[in-house]
Amino acid sequence: MTAAPLRRRARRRAEASLLGACLVLAAAACGAPGGHDEPASSTTAPESPQDALDRLDGRVPVPLVAHMADHQKRNMRDHLVAVQEIVLAAARDDYATIEASATRMGSSDAMTAMCTHMGAGAPGFTEQALAFHASADVVAEAARRHDLPAVLHELGATLQRCTGCHATFRQALVDDAGFTRLTAQPVPGGH
Ligand code: HEC
Repeated sequence: MTAAPLRRRARRRAEASLLGACLVLAAAACGAPGGHDEPASSTTAPESPQDALDRLDGRVPVPLVAHMADHQKRNMRDHLVAVQEIVLAAARDDYATIEASATRMGSSDAMTAMCTHMGAGAPGFTEQALAFHASADVVAEAARRHDLPAVLHELGATLQRCTGCHATFRQALVDDAGFTRLTAQPVPGGH
């Protein structure tokens, strides 16, 4: 055998072992910590989509039974409608509408009672909720003075209350027994 085929065969062997080393490295990289591999064991039950979301969502859970969670979300959607109404009314100097919409988001005995129930299982929630409603009261006051810059400034401050609370808290759906265990209170009336 001449020298040339021997050199070719040696080069092929070297190439083959290099390829093998690359495959081993690639496999190791795929299995490296920080990947999103499921644990190899199949004895644990697969995580439910809700549990996966709760694990990813780092916010503080606010335990609520279904009718409270629904009520809270309806209120929230109405808060957003109120903000929309205020911005559109501000663009046409319609202070009566600004005042009415801000008052709908503002403080009242009923609102305070509801926010106290809602935050029963999440320390700090009720305080943030009441501060938000008080900040909407200040928007209504500015509207009564026909002070547009103050309306916009206070609306901005109110929106900071919305975003601050959203950054901190999330709903956590529980049943009646879970609510009572977590809050040491009975479930508020089912309306
Ligand atoms: C004291 C806390 C708090 C304040 C203040 C607050 N929110 Fe919320 N909001 C929540 C929570 C908790 C949720 C449920 C979020 C979740 O579970 O992901 C929510 C959800 C919402 C939703 C989604 C509703 C749905 O149908 O899913 C909207 C819209 C919303 N808020 C608007 C607002 C607006 C606008 C403001 C202010 C004008 C506001 N919120 C102020 C706590 C708050």
